[in-house]
Amino acid sequence: MSSIRKDDHVGMKKKTGRGAVESGEKATSLRYKMMDLAKTKKDVISLGRGDPDLHTQKEIIDGAMKYFASSGNFRGDSGEPRLGSIRGLSDLRTKIADRFMDEKGILVDPEKELLVTNGAQEGLFLALLALVNPGDKVACPDPRYTSYDQAIGACGGTIVSIPTQQEGRFFELKEEDLVKHASDAKLLVFVNPSNPTGSCATTENVRNLSKVANNLGMIVLSDEIYEDIVFQNHKSLSFWGVDGARDRSVVLSGFSKSYAMTGFRVGFLVGPPAFIDAVSAIKQTTSGPCPEFSQYAALAALDMEYDSRPQFLRIYEERRQVLMDGLDSMGIPYAAHYGGLFLWADMTRFGIGAEEFCYRLLRDVGVLMFPGNSFGESWRNWVRISLLAPRKNIEEAMVRMAEFVEGLEGND
Ligand SMILES: Cc1ncc(COP(=O)(O)O)c(C=O)c1O
Repeated sequence: MSSIRKDDHVGMKKKTGRGAVESGEKATSLRYKMMDLAKTKKDVISLGRGDPDLHTQKEIIDGAMKYFASSGNFRGDSGEPRLGSIRGLSDLRTKIADRFMDEKGILVDPEKELLVTNGAQEGLFLALLALVNPGDKVACPDPRYTSYDQAIGACGGTIVSIPTQQEGRFFELKEEDLVKHASDAKLLVFVNPSNPTGSCATTENVRNLSKVANNLGMIVLSDEIYEDIVFQNHKSLSFWGVDGARDRSVVLSGFSKSYAMTGFRVGFLVGPPAFIDAVSAIKQTTSGPCPEFSQYAALAALDMEYDSRPQFLRIYEERRQVLMDGLDSMGIPYAAHYGGLFLWADMTRFGIGAEEFCYRLLRDVGVLMFPGNSFGESWRNWVRISLLAPRKNIEEAMVRMAEFVEGLEGND
């Protein structure tokens, strides 16, 4: 009987991508370690995770209930069988494509260029499985959303980090840095607005990145999951909105952040037909279609007469201001913030490193934040602070943090 050899496909993939898998696992386990510790304490204010704490709108829940209310051999409004198409309900795909046209002026063919996924998280994994072969280099901004590390590693790829910090508090992926650090990468992963830095690329920046990636023959995976959460009237251009980019780029987004629908697990990929065919084939043999009740909920989100996104944004805006005022009053610098759900703050001044800072902050005053090195090895003095707690809790967190910081400096 033949046994699995060391250089079999899976083994080789693991070997090639081991570094990325390890860095991703380390980063994720650091965040989970902090969350586990938080569970052992009472009265913790959590500014850690990135899942919206706001209530999902009633209309969205009613959308899911519409599915449950149907009985027996339900075939859906559009006559699809119960398990549905692997690509997602055609009504939902059509509505997402309409949104692309109405809000971004971008034409998407819902039949050929769109796949509904089980959250953006599955979308990112499927996209990397389709695009990355063992030995391929994948350019990632530093710092980054380290879930990508594990996915890249599992595909046997290696990460090429591109520095993004400019003049201390600005974080921007510059096209010249892409050329300088990653000209031989096959793929660029671009999260815009950024998790964890809160940067948001300008239209010019997106156009330049697209041009440079095109010249280098690089594919771009543009993760736009925070697209609706932008501040100071910032408007970011979707990668698919750049002339000539659609043949070489893929957009990833979803409903978790825009509509507080994390638990429903609905994301989507937009890309060239051949790419959508490839990811659909992988999805067919892994998770199958996105659960239909979740798709009904997503459909209801797009159908709502009252669009909850501006209201959500106002809430986040207020919280963001409380956080910024709090950090300002403590003299703690943070990255210029334009979008997404996190502030990225520099704790260098305290001289104990971010891990120790976060650990003691949680232990002593019950405030949870994530250390920067869970978003890239070199960020040992930065922390990520989420906007995902009610305003009064964030106010309280800032009071507790000020006390903590005073205590830290008093002890020096
Ligand atoms: C940059 C980024 N991409 C993708 C995801 C996954 O989102 P979803 O809840 O749709 O799986 C997240 C979640 O935090 C994220 O921050």
